[in-house]
Amino acid sequence: MSSARTLEAIQYTRGNLRILNQLALPHETIFEPVLNVQDGHAAIKTMKTRGAPAIAIVAALSLAVDAHARLEKNEFKSVDEAKDFLLSSLEYLKTSRPTAVNLFDTAGKFATLINKLVQNGAQEPKDLVMPIVEAAEQMLVDDVQDNKNIGKHGAEYIVNHVRDKSNISVLTHCNTGSLATAGWGTALGIVRDLHRNDQLKHAFCTETRPYNQGSRLTAYELVYESIPSTLICDSMASALLRLNPSVQAIIVGADRVAANGDTANKIGTYQLAITAKHHGILFIVAAPSTSIDLSMQSGKEIVIEERPANELVTTTGVLLDNNQSTTVRTAAQGINVWNPSFDVTPCELISAIVTEKGVAVKQPGQTEFDLKAFLS
Ligand code: MRU
Repeated sequence: MSSARTLEAIQYTRGNLRILNQLALPHETIFEPVLNVQDGHAAIKTMKTRGAPAIAIVAALSLAVDAHARLEKNEFKSVDEAKDFLLSSLEYLKTSRPTAVNLFDTAGKFATLINKLVQNGAQEPKDLVMPIVEAAEQMLVDDVQDNKNIGKHGAEYIVNHVRDKSNISVLTHCNTGSLATAGWGTALGIVRDLHRNDQLKHAFCTETRPYNQGSRLTAYELVYESIPSTLICDSMASALLRLNPSVQAIIVGADRVAANGDTANKIGTYQLAITAKHHGILFIVAAPSTSIDLSMQSGKEIVIEERPANELVTTTGVLLDNNQSTTVRTAAQGINVWNPSFDVTPCELISAIVTEKGVAVKQPGQTEFDLKAFLS
């Protein structure tokens, strides 16, 4: 059995927010203060904070600490001033990263709440600020609960749908664990549940080039919790499935799921779905229902973020002789670089979409999910 410890990437008490700088992991554990929306935006854009749920939560909490500090210092002279600050900050936070819908979902819900409070006759700045602070704080609680439910539903689904229940290994991609959420995780939460139920033989995680969320973060979480696990690089996935029949499911997270089930997730997810289909194993997407974007009918509409070239042509590590962190160039000078952060996996390649509300599957004979019906 594993220990009960899980990592945390967000430390919050009212008025104080610190985030774990995930660029420094696994070599160093550095918590950095987030004092305002500018810090929150920068933490997300530079990927010190990353993972769809964590992006939304840190954005919301950065707004909460910023607005709370301004309130304490009596900086808002009127309800209108507080409203303008809150709404313009939400617009600004939305410009940090484009693909994960959770941030846009949160910003939309907060803007609706602010407008409603004004319409209902908010008298003082605190009548707007405190409900936003409370809503941001509630996200920390709700996200962990959602992830626990995802873990439970996903583990049950896998155990009931694999060929051999007594020999279940899984492969996961990117990082979807405690570091990508308020705690526990989505796809990695399912791995945790399988492990804690003694239903998991082994977890494999991909390196997840170019940012190495798998080798730096998921491997770190798996080792931290003593879950039996092995790292592979992305190009080894098909060979693993051919040679190791215990790997009966690939489990990934999501940044945005369209109404038909097409799923944007970390670059490399699509090729994993193709190899899962070829080898006849489950391909599971795990995400909170806030990752489902019913305004998009298919994945064609999803905006895919492109990241800077330096992320692909360099790698960061520690020197073996003196343990000093360093970044080295690994690609030829002058080469062109294409660095999309995400890809879209077509719904026909996905076996099931696991949310906190339960497991969405396709109707017999259908290639698309009906997530509108699932959520209604
Ligand atoms: O670029 P990242 O590290 O933010 O990408 C993260 C992913 O693609 C995750 O799979 C997704 O956000 C879900 S995290 C629970």
